[in-house]
Amino acid sequence: MCGIVGYVGPRDATPIILSGLKRLEYRGYDSAGLAVLENGHIELRRDAGKLERLATLVEQSPLHGHVGIGHTRWATHGEPSARNAHPHLGGTGEVVLVHNGIVENFLELREELNAEGVEFRSDTDTEVIVQLVDRYLSMEMGLVEASRRALSHIKGAHGVVILSSREPDKIVAARIGNAGGVVVGVGEGEMFVASDMPAILEHTRKMVFLESQQMAVVRRTGVEVQSLAGEQLDYEIHNVAWDPVSAEKGEYRHFMEKEIHEQVRSLTDTIAGRVDFDEGRIRLPQLNLTPELAQRIRKIFITACGTAGHAGMVGKVLIESITRIPVEVDIASEFRYRDPIVDEDMLVLAISQSGETADTLAAMDLARRKGALLWSIVNVIGSQAMRISDGYISMQTGPEIGVASTKAYTAPLVDLYMLAVLLGDMRGTLEAAERRRLVADLRLVPDLVGRCLDREAEVEVVAASMKEVSHCLYLGRGINMPTAYEGALKLKEISYIHAEGYPAGEMKHGPIALIDQDMPVVVIAPRDPWYEKMFSQIEQAKARGGKVIALASEGDQLIAGVSDQVLWVPETPWRLSPVTTVIPLQMLAYHIAALRGLDVDQPRNLAKSVTVE
Ligand code: G6P
Repeated sequence: MCGIVGYVGPRDATPIILSGLKRLEYRGYDSAGLAVLENGHIELRRDAGKLERLATLVEQSPLHGHVGIGHTRWATHGEPSARNAHPHLGGTGEVVLVHNGIVENFLELREELNAEGVEFRSDTDTEVIVQLVDRYLSMEMGLVEASRRALSHIKGAHGVVILSSREPDKIVAARIGNAGGVVVGVGEGEMFVASDMPAILEHTRKMVFLESQQMAVVRRTGVEVQSLAGEQLDYEIHNVAWDPVSAEKGEYRHFMEKEIHEQVRSLTDTIAGRVDFDEGRIRLPQLNLTPELAQRIRKIFITACGTAGHAGMVGKVLIESITRIPVEVDIASEFRYRDPIVDEDMLVLAISQSGETADTLAAMDLARRKGALLWSIVNVIGSQAMRISDGYISMQTGPEIGVASTKAYTAPLVDLYMLAVLLGDMRGTLEAAERRRLVADLRLVPDLVGRCLDREAEVEVVAASMKEVSHCLYLGRGINMPTAYEGALKLKEISYIHAEGYPAGEMKHGPIALIDQDMPVVVIAPRDPWYEKMFSQIEQAKARGGKVIALASEGDQLIAGVSDQVLWVPETPWRLSPVTTVIPLQMLAYHIAALRGLDVDQPRNLAKSVTVE
């Protein structure tokens, strides 16, 4: 989705904005632009295409100034083109704006402005906002007041950043609802604005996060935060621990490759400080869980989108088996419109890497209105999902840049495991010996994941044999059924191969008709409680002439004997097995896409965080 960067300070704004936008490329975009205040007037460069195109425009026709804003656009209204790319200028040329979100009433506003004689120069919904700001600036209002008045007309969820040549000392930023974040970076005598922290992490780690209905007036000397109604608000400056280097590719070809390999570290960090191995206990203080609360929970809903939803499916098996609390997993876009039966004795747990996915946030709002206890598992510190929750677990993965989520899939699996053990402990459903065993198993995770990564060369051989296929089926069962979904999702996201994940027991009710020599079947069959059922699945697929790639526990010669190829994983306690089984599938998807020469980190049509419905 769209990315925003702004700068005000003594340095040249152009390179700072360009490099900030570069760091937001992972979010997905189809056009890019920037505007800078140069000698008292607004200079604009923008076009469809990648940032290289924008960089060329800037090289051909440089622009320099100390205040500027930039944007990468993911088209919603109007095709990707120069005229539709942001920033958008108002009619007088005195104000310019970038925007994330959709102006839901833009047709109505456009008519109103047309009737006032405004001529629109783009097909975007965004342009109505800047024309409205222009309208109020012409009424001799200051930029802050004009922006406030303009924003009061628009419906929907928005992140907006505005600057004007009339007041060259400031940038105005606003957040309305959940169209992604707006963060202000506090520097020494300079200030930054961005939709996401990685854009500005190289300059500062001091961040102010805007809440919905808040505006920031950003000058080089500092920031003022106001409500959209105009009252001054107190704010907190967060010191973010993220390391800017973790947002760099380093020696790897792609961020996805780097992030797959970071999982030993991210899972070590996930466990660190949260597990008391001596006592056999879990500590998750940010959940704010008390024994009384734990006793009260009658049912848990897990809600999420995409990869996070697959983590939620594993969570269902973990929580139900350890705590005996019933768990329902619901895709957030379904949950929000389904009028789910939720009350005060239920827990709604949202999982979101970005903490800004529009559907997930809407599902959380609904849960809040229904009075449920609201928890989240999120990666981006300070994100909306984290802020609106009663309790949270922060994934300890650092920034995830590749659009296809990898380390932000395995971290919540371990978080959910720890959460289940903690709940089981507090509810008294878990015997001490079993609890100690479950906690002790956590110690194995980083090493087991490392052993999966050590087998990359073998995965590459399988990838080479699969790179030309058009379709692929992934089968899994029990706790590894979601692994089949996730393996298939990884493959389709980045290699554009049609891949379907299926509960293995359902194969005979349909997908079996598809199996022939052109349809490879990836069968996830580690030694877990569903092992024998999976074994018979392989035989059924082979009997229909299918090519079977089995994912099996090391040393399993029975499986090797009946399969065409094997992806090996180390023997793993079954409740933690989804953490290891997904690793070869991530590597498989990665290598197939890389062999096909595709843009692994920014697959077509996809965005890292989907901040529109
Ligand atoms: C997008 C991304 C997926 C991600 C999903 C949910 O579709 O491309 O990789 O799983 O959003 O994102 P979240 O930030 O809520 O985990």
